[in-house]
Amino acid sequence: METQEAESTIPRHVAIIMDGNGRWAQERHRPRLFGHKAGADTVREIVEVARKLGIGYLTLYAFSTENWKRPEGEVSGLMGILKNYLQSELRSMLKNDIRLNCIGQMQKLPADVQEILKKSIAETRSCTGMTLNLALNYGGRAEMVEAITRIGHDCRNGTLDPGAISEAVISEHLFTAGQPDPDLLIRTGGENRLSNFLLWQASYAELYFTEVKWPDFHQEAFLAALNSYSQRQRRFGQTGAQVSGA
Ligand code: IPE
Ligand code: IPE
Ligand code: MG
Repeated sequence: METQEAESTIPRHVAIIMDGNGRWAQERHRPRLFGHKAGADTVREIVEVARKLGIGYLTLYAFSTENWKRPEGEVSGLMGILKNYLQSELRSMLKNDIRLNCIGQMQKLPADVQEILKKSIAETRSCTGMTLNLALNYGGRAEMVEAITRIGHDCRNGTLDPGAISEAVISEHLFTAGQPDPDLLIRTGGENRLSNFLLWQASYAELYFTEVKWPDFHQEAFLAALNSYSQRQRRFGQTGAQVSGA
């Protein structure tokens, strides 16, 4: 990571599907929540590493719109872990100049979680070192429905001409408005799917799937993902020769 060349391949935006907590716990004959608690420690570690490496945006999928279908005890346990995490991390976010942002429908989260979330978002508002997007009650399709609904309203009340709807207009109506699209999308835990994550934004993300379960995804595993990314040629539809300038 020392050379300028390596630095230039650090992605601006990394998105992670943090999967495998439950299986990690089951392997240890412990309840699933034990895995989620260990997962919160991994979040602390990876946020710190990402910040040190100069990644501008880190998006972590913490709770999907589909995860409400889990047993009530697991959902409330996850909400408790989230609340603890936010309470314990606010100081370090401020110290490390990390701006917290939430992507997802916050209104459906428990009131106490919303309260600490809103407080943390407000207090870190002027931090510029890195943006940490926590995807909470997030679903890519729900996000698009919400965006399209708002675009529809704007068209009806005359503030938007339907002919002017462009990719940029759609991007600006998503939770990630104003942010670059993810360059690298990592999924831990061995599954090879997107599970409704960043469906619009990830259209040209480099995908990296690893068997490593989230609680075991430490710095070395993260660096391996970044190293894989740095060796890829992103062509965006062009030929390899065009991109390399050969
Ligand atoms: C990811 O781990 C965390 C959340 C979805 C909240 P899982 O809980 O999905 O872990 P596995 O996939 O069951 O191992
Ligand atoms: C995706 O993991 C959601 C999060 C990591 C928050 P899941 O474990 O919920 O995904 P599926 O159900 O296996 O697709
Ligand atoms: Mg899972």
